[in-house]
Amino acid sequence: MASNKMSQTKLEHLLKKKKGMSFSDYMEFVLFDKESGLYENHEILGKKGHFITSPLVSKQFSYCIAKHYIKEETLDIIVELGGGDASLACDLLYYLKDQNELPKQYIFFEKSDYLIKKQKSIINEKSINTIVDISWISDFKDLPSEAFIISNELFDCLPTDIIKHVPGGYQQAYINKDFKMDWKEFDFESELSFIDLDLPKDLPYNYVFEYSHAQKDIINEISEFLHRAYFLIFDYGYTSSELYLKDRSLGTITCIKNHIMDFNPLSDIGTKDISAFVNFTYLKNILCRNHWEIVAFLSQANYLINFNILNDINVNDIDELNAVKKLIMPNHMGELFKVLIMSKNMKKTDKNYFMKNDIIKL
Ligand SMILES: C[S@@+](CC[C@H](N)C(=O)[O-])C[C@H]1O[C@@H](n2cnc3c(N)ncnc32)[C@H](O)[C@@H]1O
Repeated sequence: MASNKMSQTKLEHLLKKKKGMSFSDYMEFVLFDKESGLYENHEILGKKGHFITSPLVSKQFSYCIAKHYIKEETLDIIVELGGGDASLACDLLYYLKDQNELPKQYIFFEKSDYLIKKQKSIINEKSINTIVDISWISDFKDLPSEAFIISNELFDCLPTDIIKHVPGGYQQAYINKDFKMDWKEFDFESELSFIDLDLPKDLPYNYVFEYSHAQKDIINEISEFLHRAYFLIFDYGYTSSELYLKDRSLGTITCIKNHIMDFNPLSDIGTKDISAFVNFTYLKNILCRNHWEIVAFLSQANYLINFNILNDINVNDIDELNAVKKLIMPNHMGELFKVLIMSKNMKKTDKNYFMKNDIIKL
């Protein structure tokens, strides 16, 4: 299948000019370049797009987050990082409206101009802006100082580098002008966040893994502006002890196009999504450095069950039953997808409130 021509031509030019490009720069370009990036030009989400996320599987996902928001009570601004097609926002706000628990404001923090346009049109179409004040920001300094923050599948698509453990140290992947991967020596151990990845001491040679500077940067930036907050990070991935298994030695970069997965980010350039497993221990460590406290770490299934997804579904609606099954079954999205819940300067939350809280695994 042909590549995205504009993406490939621009990339060829850049690769020649820069004499290669780190994988994170490559990923940033392929996904987010304003002219030819996948997130700026294509329908990414949904049946007609490349993949389906939890808010699109069932409204019950967003309803559970709404129930969680009501339980926390004290924050009147909700910030959603990377709001996709606004499904989560619409369903969550309708639920909160029915319960008379609307926030004062809902803020989308979004990078893609294409998706901002889409979010605005859907919010308008569904008249959500008539029930709550909605705004869009793309600069960290416009964040409020207090908020209930939600992100679903944001961290897996943030650009990442690819690193290889070799005798004597580490190497970093670069894409050369022929769209092949070259490896360059990388003084990884002197990077401040090396320790935050929590790599196993006996990591085998030639073991490949990811390291995302962008994940660290976004957490650092958010933390600078948010002084009292609750942060829900939904994504797919593992803690460090479950991620760096010996037989997962080729890294976790995953591509998806029209709902079909493959593992070669250098083919069909610019036409498929690229993401990587999230290391939740890494996110937790960076958040703790920024004075966040851990509230909970749960599989998506346990989170949704905690918020009564099983009691609130309409058992006579087969489609809804099947959708909820997809969200919670271990062989679908129930186990691989997790939620990390952190808080900053909030009243102590009762950690026992969450059944099957796996904080210990972090
Ligand atoms: C995989 S989509 C998930 C969308 C939505 N949360 C969902 O679950 O359907 C990732 C979202 O994050 C946004 N995004 C990616 N990088 C971002 C960044 N650095 N800042 C803000 N939004 C970003 C994308 O444009 C997109 O809206």
